[in-house]
Amino acid sequence: MSPLIEVRGLRYRYEDGTDALRGIDFTVYPGETVVLLGANGSGKTTFLLHLNGLLQGEGSVRVCGMDVSPRNFREVRSKVGMVFQDADEQLFMPTVLDDVAFGPLNQGFPAEEAAARARSALARVGLGDIEHRAPYHLSAGEKRRAALAGVLAMEPEILVLDEPTTYLDPPAQRNLIGLLVSLPQAKVVATHDVRFAAALATRAVFFDKGRVAKEGKLDEIVELFQWDWGT
Ligand SMILES: Nc1ncnc2c1ncn2[C@@H]1O[C@H](COP(=O)(O)OP(=O)(O)O)[C@@H](O)[C@H]1O
Ligand SMILES: [Mg+2]
Repeated sequence: MSPLIEVRGLRYRYEDGTDALRGIDFTVYPGETVVLLGANGSGKTTFLLHLNGLLQGEGSVRVCGMDVSPRNFREVRSKVGMVFQDADEQLFMPTVLDDVAFGPLNQGFPAEEAAARARSALARVGLGDIEHRAPYHLSAGEKRRAALAGVLAMEPEILVLDEPTTYLDPPAQRNLIGLLVSLPQAKVVATHDVRFAAALATRAVFFDKGRVAKEGKLDEIVELFQWDWGT
């Protein structure tokens, strides 16, 4: 089976000189849900932003057999659906339906087909009945699901989620777990939340100061790093 994501020797330095990634090797196969753990500032978000070319460092990043480079961005971004930590960055259209249809429209689908894909994605995340509402009036849990619908409408092969439980209360977290488990795509999820990670992870990767300190089973990693999950 060939990997969906293959990263080798990835390094990234921000303009102010911060070495955020110091040589990351990382592979994801179909069917996996890989959880990224590690302290604030260990490089998880910086890493995720390389998976669809929002940042480009040194080393190699391949997705579905393609190099993540400007000539492939369009194709890569249709394969990798990214849900950002702050849903407000992702939702910017007047209605939920417009927001979710934005991706397929951008992919070149005609308006009717884009709307059909958006409605199907909204039904998938349980928001079929609020398509005409304004995104900024939704609850945190609804916003997260709307952002997820926005990427599902593009029918990606990989879902990337950065701290998806941020701002969610326990019922909304449980709802999101059930939803993610039901989706067939491979997933890469950065999270601090142990129960959330345990419900999803097939493998865990522990980031430390821009490196992968350890990867393996979630339990082993939690124990090894005595990771204090808080709430
Ligand atoms: N825009 C930026 N400019 C400079 N440094 C940044 C920027 N964003 C993040 N960093 C730094 O890069 C490192 C990794 O950050 P980040 O990827 O956000 O980690 P995490 O998501 O694990 O909390 C940290 O030292 C952080 O301060
Ligand atoms: Mg982060």
